[in-house]
Amino acid sequence: MIFVKRILARINRVINPPKNIEDEFHAKYYYSKVWAETYFLGKKVFKCPNDLWIYQELLWEIKPDVIIECGTFHGGSALYYAKLFDIMDLPGKIITIDVDAMPDMPEHERITYLLGSSTSPEIIEKVKNAVKNKKTVMVILDSDHSKDHVLKELELYHNLVTRGSYLVVEDSNINGHPVYSGFGQGPGPMEAIEEFLPKHPEFEVDKQKEKFLMSFNPNGYLKRVM
Ligand SMILES: C[S@@+](CC[C@H](N)C(=O)[O-])C[C@H]1O[C@@H](n2cnc3c(N)ncnc32)[C@H](O)[C@@H]1O
Repeated sequence: MIFVKRILARINRVINPPKNIEDEFHAKYYYSKVWAETYFLGKKVFKCPNDLWIYQELLWEIKPDVIIECGTFHGGSALYYAKLFDIMDLPGKIITIDVDAMPDMPEHERITYLLGSSTSPEIIEKVKNAVKNKKTVMVILDSDHSKDHVLKELELYHNLVTRGSYLVVEDSNINGHPVYSGFGQGPGPMEAIEEFLPKHPEFEVDKQKEKFLMSFNPNGYLKRVM
């Protein structure tokens, strides 16, 4: 099945070639799969370095008390945020959620790992308790990238994001935006954003966060403006 999907994705790439130089580079970078071999202090982090730099700027800009991350994987991104808080001498904490626990997840006093689905009532309850009375809360959705799951996360987590802070929807580049048109699960994060935003004028896409011309999160940096 995976093999068939890969062939279909390849055919799609030939039928729908990238439309401009940015998309062409995005496709070249994405299909090289180097993002799956990217490390922070020896821990795998599934991100494009452009986005990692944007996170560094974001953390400095909004100084979140808590980051809620859906999708831990090896914990490389959680460690990255924790070390940034260390360097910036900020009090920030990270709560990161995953259905699976990897054996090599880094230990850091700022990081709390929650095991379970990001949309389960038990996890939501724990997260809500953890952010109670926090001044600045930021949320990053980087777990199951199917549209339905991302929409559910958006509905469950958007209210935790404080005004002026961000709700980041990761990997909105898949399903043809501009890569991976043959994304196996059909519509993905971009389609979830498109359905969510018209009903939530309190959030606006911050296109400035795509200033490096290639982001894995196009239209995914949602700023809470009211
Ligand atoms: C793209 S990886 C996360 C990458 C990580 N944030 C990073 O930047 O290195 C996605 C993770 O989401 C997890 N996941 C899948 N479905 C989930 C769910 N319903 N709830 C929480 N995590 C889930 C997977 O187990 C996987 O580890």
